[in-house]
Amino acid sequence: MSAAPTEPRRAQPLDGRAVSDAVAARLAARVAELPYVPRLVFVRVGEDPASVFYVRSKQRYAKRVGVDAETLVLRVDVDQATLMATIERLNADPATDAVLVQLPLPDHLDAAPVLEAIDPAKDVDGFHPMNVGRLWSGAPALVPCTPLGLLAIVDHYELDVKGRHVVIIGRSHMVGKPAAALFLGRHATVTVAHSRTRDLAGVVRQGEVVVAAVGRAGLVTGSMVQPGAIVLDVGMTRVDDRIVGDVADDVWDVAGYLTPMPGGTGLVTVAMVLQNTLTAAERRRG
Ligand code: GUN
Repeated sequence: MSAAPTEPRRAQPLDGRAVSDAVAARLAARVAELPYVPRLVFVRVGEDPASVFYVRSKQRYAKRVGVDAETLVLRVDVDQATLMATIERLNADPATDAVLVQLPLPDHLDAAPVLEAIDPAKDVDGFHPMNVGRLWSGAPALVPCTPLGLLAIVDHYELDVKGRHVVIIGRSHMVGKPAAALFLGRHATVTVAHSRTRDLAGVVRQGEVVVAAVGRAGLVTGSMVQPGAIVLDVGMTRVDDRIVGDVADDVWDVAGYLTPMPGGTGLVTVAMVLQNTLTAAERRRG
């Protein structure tokens, strides 16, 4: 036999679709055991194309696992009071287990009071300060879906992070900070790097696990990654007509494991919205 025409890539792909499918099967089995149908309501303001796409993906996944999901679409010029009243109505509705306000909101709206108005028991994004505090204090919490999905990926592939050095690039409320709490909870040693970090390459090279969550295309290159590292790419940037991650292509030649983009962490985020919906429903309804 002749040699393969190209060198095979070294990193094993961490396939988000495989994780998402496995989670869907587990969630569908859980839903089938319940004496009620969990209900998830998305609130979307306006027609931002990315928001339309993401909410539709979550709605489709909800249907797959047997959760009743509805999207409330508010006009792009809706006022703050009307949006707040919508949240209050969903909080008060006993049939609604989960509420998710898709971000970003239009500029005239203030997201913080909206997120704080959501009943923490229904807050499947885990952005309410009550859930943030519970996460950091180790109490049962609803946890942000993207970082929760990173744990689902390492668990699916049976990658042990205990005692390992996890370098997270990015300190956002949605990803970087909650990811730090979650990996600490798994007994990892955690470094959070960000835009002001000196010698970013040197810091990232220490990571046995690297989480790239900045939103800058190709920020993490092969020369910054230690051989064999587990690299989880959360970044998503539109470049021309493609969606590209924070991780450059040459990392495939260095890393041990890498999430592809697309087909990586984003699919698992969607799955975690539904996992959180079931968690919320089961806790609320006993
Ligand atoms: N927009 C981008 N990511 C997210 C997310 O995780 N939750 C919500 N609600 N909106 C988003």
